[in-house]
Amino acid sequence: MPASLGSMANRGKVTVVGAGFYGSTTAQRLAEYDIFETVVLTDILEGKPEGLALDINQSRPIEGFETKVVGVGGGSYDGTENSDVVVITAGLPRKPGMSRMDLLETNAKIVRAVAENVARTSPDAVIVVVSNPLDEMTALAQLASGFPRERVLGQAGMLDTARFIDNVAAAAGVPVGSVACLTLGSHGDTMVPVPSRCTVDGKPLTDVLDAATIDELVRRTRNGGAEVVALLKTGSAYYAPSAAAARMVRAIGTDAGEELPVCAWVDGEYGISGVYLGVVAEVGAGGVRRVVEVPLTDSEVADLRAAAEAVRAKQADIADL
Ligand code: 2OP
Repeated sequence: MPASLGSMANRGKVTVVGAGFYGSTTAQRLAEYDIFETVVLTDILEGKPEGLALDINQSRPIEGFETKVVGVGGGSYDGTENSDVVVITAGLPRKPGMSRMDLLETNAKIVRAVAENVARTSPDAVIVVVSNPLDEMTALAQLASGFPRERVLGQAGMLDTARFIDNVAAAAGVPVGSVACLTLGSHGDTMVPVPSRCTVDGKPLTDVLDAATIDELVRRTRNGGAEVVALLKTGSAYYAPSAAAARMVRAIGTDAGEELPVCAWVDGEYGISGVYLGVVAEVGAGGVRRVVEVPLTDSEVADLRAAAEAVRAKQADIADL
């Protein structure tokens, strides 16, 4: 049990919408933090969220946490009212060979309906979106909920950064704890892994690995989700994604003010405005406190601006979906 977190007890309520692998592992991780009173897990299926909640609750005596998980099936929002944080995982995952963008129309309908229901039932919540295509679904959730932009953010940068770190650690033959990395941009083709912000035991990545290896690690990071999808054959990744989403919820639930790579509304930083994009942001109880502009090389800024233009074009379309 993460005992140090138990002492930071917040005792609030988190709702996780969607009881697939991503949603259920997120609910499990949040419950195991033992800082929330209740984690509500919902799904359109009857019985699945209730069964998963029962199963997680029965692990409590063994793992030593008290957070109660409540399962709500049938697409109901009863019991989710006045959640402090709502994680939207609802939607279809990719199949091998699909891009995240192939999910746009199907998941837009689902995310729009969920966001409208969240606005009705938990009007003061912070929404964390994880459904794909991530940057577009985050923008859509803000539009459909009508929430202030700082109260809607998306999970991707933490996951993509974790993948970059894991890739670098493997290539350099060091523990993941020795590596610091950053990934910005979209959660898609215009992802921007940032080698200039990457260190191994405090040393610049370029001192540790040659340029061709770094390029390959950047490519593998961009392709990280598809690599897992291709191996699984059905469904997409959920252990690392749920770890990332749960850590964002923890920062919100404990009002940590942590600087995390997230999908946030960008308004002037890096010369970019009016778009949801992967950036570093200070995250606390009200969602995004501020976007933090980190030093980047000229070519990394150019890549980030290109990512902004690519997602801006798609985000302009979502109002009609
Ligand atoms: C991924 O990259 C689920 O989009 C997520 O694995």
